[in-house]
Amino acid sequence: MSIQAKPILIDCDPGHDDAVALVMAHRSPAIELLGVTTTCGNAGIDKTTRNALRILEFIGAGNVPVAAGCVRPLTRPLVLGTADGPSGLEGSKYLPDPTMTIEPVHAVDFLARMLSKAPEPIDFVATGPLTNVALLVMKYPQVLAKIKHLTWMGGVFYRKSEIISPTEFNAFCDPEALKIVLESGVPITMVGLDVTRRVLIEEPQFEELAKIDTPLGRLVVDWLRYYDKLHRRTMNIGGAMHDPLALAAVIDPTLITTRPAHIAVDVGGAYTFGATVADFWGTRGEKPNAEIAVDVDVERFFDLMFSLLRG
Ligand code: RIB
Ligand code: CA
Repeated sequence: MSIQAKPILIDCDPGHDDAVALVMAHRSPAIELLGVTTTCGNAGIDKTTRNALRILEFIGAGNVPVAAGCVRPLTRPLVLGTADGPSGLEGSKYLPDPTMTIEPVHAVDFLARMLSKAPEPIDFVATGPLTNVALLVMKYPQVLAKIKHLTWMGGVFYRKSEIISPTEFNAFCDPEALKIVLESGVPITMVGLDVTRRVLIEEPQFEELAKIDTPLGRLVVDWLRYYDKLHRRTMNIGGAMHDPLALAAVIDPTLITTRPAHIAVDVGGAYTFGATVADFWGTRGEKPNAEIAVDVDVERFFDLMFSLLRG
């Protein structure tokens, strides 16, 4: 029985983990990748856009349109991540420069066009700061009904004993954008650090990756070796598969367990802006505005990721 592929749009800031998510989206028979828009976060917009182009071209997805997005967050200065190196995709020694070009429209206008012409509401996956999505909400409210569901890699909700900053990077980069999206009524699932820090690339996973003896397999190993090394040095954890998990949850929603909650995002704190605060007990008297991922089937996630990378 052939799977009916889900048409999706991806807004991302590649970035190593975004790159793996793009590969998985293209490889999955359950996904039809309609278009990619880029945002800044792991690197500046020129680099994340160049990376999106060269990744898609390398994997044979040069037909997927790419539109570049905002050059900085809505109100705050641009703070760039450091986990992906100066190019935003360090460790890709043989990933050629792109020959494909970007769409001649801004990401926000591209998203509006794709959504308005879609015959049915479609899934939207965002794996970076939500600046483009917030502007879509403000400029094109009439297309929001065509977003079937927004799955976003972002936020962190449970405070564990481990030392963890109160904010997750995508929320930290543009908390005002997140606030706009949370208030928009767009159905959103937040795949946050609570689950993504449980899908870490460690030696067993590297051994599995090493068996994928293809140019793509070798490229992904290069990416993840770099990404892992930097994560260990800066955060003392292995390379977390943040964005691949968010994408995987669209392919197979049973990979994660979610619960509804009203999420507020701090936009005023000096040290806590970007913190995503869940009201699981309804004390605010507000209706839930998001589904929060609270558990993940780690083994089945990696099974899916490796099967897609093996192609
Ligand atoms: O906090 C993790 C998120 O920040 C991921 O999307 C990663 O790519 C970075 O953008
Ligand atoms: Ca990302």
